[in-house]
Amino acid sequence: MNARIIGTGSYLPKRVVTNDDLAKIMDTSDEWIQSRTGIKERHLVVEENTASMCIEAAKEALKDADMAAEEIELIIVATLSADHVTPSAACEVQAGIGAVNAVAFDLNAACSGFVFSLNTAQAFIQSGIYKNALVLGAETLSRIMDWNDRGTCVLFGDGAGAAVIKADDEGIMAFEQYSDGAKGHVLAGINRKNNNPYVKNDTDPTYVQMDGKEVYSFAVSTVPKSIQNVLDKANMTVEDVDVFLLHQANIRIIQSVAKRLKISLDKCPISLDHCGNLSAASIPVLLDEVNKKGMLKRGDKVILSGFGGGLTWGTTLLTW
Ligand code: ACO
Repeated sequence: MNARIIGTGSYLPKRVVTNDDLAKIMDTSDEWIQSRTGIKERHLVVEENTASMCIEAAKEALKDADMAAEEIELIIVATLSADHVTPSAACEVQAGIGAVNAVAFDLNAACSGFVFSLNTAQAFIQSGIYKNALVLGAETLSRIMDWNDRGTCVLFGDGAGAAVIKADDEGIMAFEQYSDGAKGHVLAGINRKNNNPYVKNDTDPTYVQMDGKEVYSFAVSTVPKSIQNVLDKANMTVEDVDVFLLHQANIRIIQSVAKRLKISLDKCPISLDHCGNLSAASIPVLLDEVNKKGMLKRGDKVILSGFGGGLTWGTTLLTW
């Protein structure tokens, strides 16, 4: 038994912030941001939060799947920016949509989180433990950025995406996922400090920090290999794939991956121009946009490939 995606949904905050808007509050420009990243604007939360965006995306995905919340058996939210340490975003989604029969938990694998969550749900479904799952990727990255660090804060946005998956003969065909904790420092953020009567702690808060050049070389060397490995597992080639949904970090990374794999950029849809980098939410938001635009038809072969903090990376090949 496999797991097939049968519905998608997404939510982007109402507040749109263009590069020119940012240039009014920091020393940057539309030209700098667009030429290096491809990002034109992003959505930032004002009234929304991680759970509220998840709930909207989940309701839309359930409607698209024509399923009731009560039918859902498993909820996984991929996030590194849940609203609370506990309850998890997934438990808040469960309550918010009334999925009273589901078990719910969060999974943190940074920008690879949605792919890891999808693969986790697939494992539960393949083993027969659950028959379906609601898998989300959601981030409120604006709350963990240093807004005085123009090198990082301009790159990210807020949003949520969701997919309903169900046991089926077709669906996820192959996947791989890896971590390299020794390189965690390349992309790191938010150090929870020890805090008890025996610790003196008066240091400043920490924010997301990254070595952009290291992230770039990690991504362009790892992602093509990972995609090729998964295709090899399924005895397929890049020509057999209809759509590549790549983590939306940077247009240059996507162009480089496409060039290395010798695939047309037409097969690599983009959302980073209007979303920025949404970490775990980037692939499910893109998936929903592609689905809603009617770009996927039954039987299409789709690659989802994520990479990011941890370091982590993973690729999933599925039949739509
Ligand atoms: N506006 C204007 N100038 C800026 C800005 C900004 N927002 N940010 C940095 N600069 C300046 C720097 O101060 C520096 O100036 P200097 O030369 O006078 O010192 C200059 O621009 C170059 O700074 P770099 O940090 O070296 O910028 P770089 O050209 O490397 O581009 C970028 C940064 C776009 C992040 C690049 O490293 C990159 O493409 N990285 C790929 C990885 C990536 O996109 N990571 C983000 C997400 S991580 C993930 O999702 C897994």
